[in-house]
Amino acid sequence: MPYEHLTTTRAGAVERLTLNRPDVRNAFNDAMIAELTDWAAAIAAAPGVRAVVIGGAGPTFCAGADLAWMARTVDYTEAENVADAERASRMFGAIDRLPVPVIGRVQGAALGGGAGLCAVCDVVVADEHATFGFTEVKLGIIPAVISPFVLAKIGRSAARELFLTGRRFTAGHALDIGLVHTVVPATDLDAAVDAVLREVLAAGRDAIAAAKQLIADVWEAESPEQARSMTARALAARRVSSEGQEGLRAFLGKRKPTWSGA
Ligand code: COA
Repeated sequence: MPYEHLTTTRAGAVERLTLNRPDVRNAFNDAMIAELTDWAAAIAAAPGVRAVVIGGAGPTFCAGADLAWMARTVDYTEAENVADAERASRMFGAIDRLPVPVIGRVQGAALGGGAGLCAVCDVVVADEHATFGFTEVKLGIIPAVISPFVLAKIGRSAARELFLTGRRFTAGHALDIGLVHTVVPATDLDAAVDAVLREVLAAGRDAIAAAKQLIADVWEAESPEQARSMTARALAARRVSSEGQEGLRAFLGKRKPTWSGA
């Protein structure tokens, strides 16, 4: 599907998505949010896709909300502003829940919603010189829509310091707080992404989807009892699944597993 603000390429089972508004450092406007939401729905329904890589065109991964567009929303009614924020929230949620591993490839900067986009990636690989920030308070606003995803990723302590100061921080600090997972020189970014792809492509697609769902379900469990019964049922389902049986037999037979759809 052709997009105005995104480019996508598919090589085998890997979908690469590039935010493509480099003149404004890939900032999100309403059109890009709508395109990302549509793209996520298409990927969720694409059985041939086993991993996604999200990157940004030009020198910067993503500068967050498009501030020129945001300034124009001063003329929106409160209901229009709420609807707008809900659309952005749905976009982050759709990427967060994709059933395949989502790998972020970050160069330059990831600020505001750009840092939020890192939070909905499963694995983030960053250039050692990249900068990050939940800078909203510096603009008189708050990191509201992204906060559920960011809090789940970095926890309350880091969020309290970073949301309240709005300060920019290094890739090394992003690594310390769990917002990113690997920090490399810019020249090694693609190799680092490929290393993650090799790992996930060697695992069962349905097992990865189930592992991702497990994390969300355990996080949202209402009680330890509910978590116990839900995790026991989830494991039982995987043990008897064709992937589970193939993975276990392959290990015992000292051979590589063959995954259907791989
Ligand atoms: N929204 C709209 N336009 C943006 C933008 C944003 N979030 N971030 C950058 N731009 C625009 C700049 O206004 C500039 O436009 P111009 O060429 O018409 O002057 C262009 O992108 C390049 O920006 P510049 O600052 O010169 O690029 P840089 O590579 O030196 O720095 C950033 C990139 C992202 C570090 C820097 O632009 C920045 O700090 N942006 C603000 C990001 C922010 O506060 N986001 C939080 C949103 S809640």
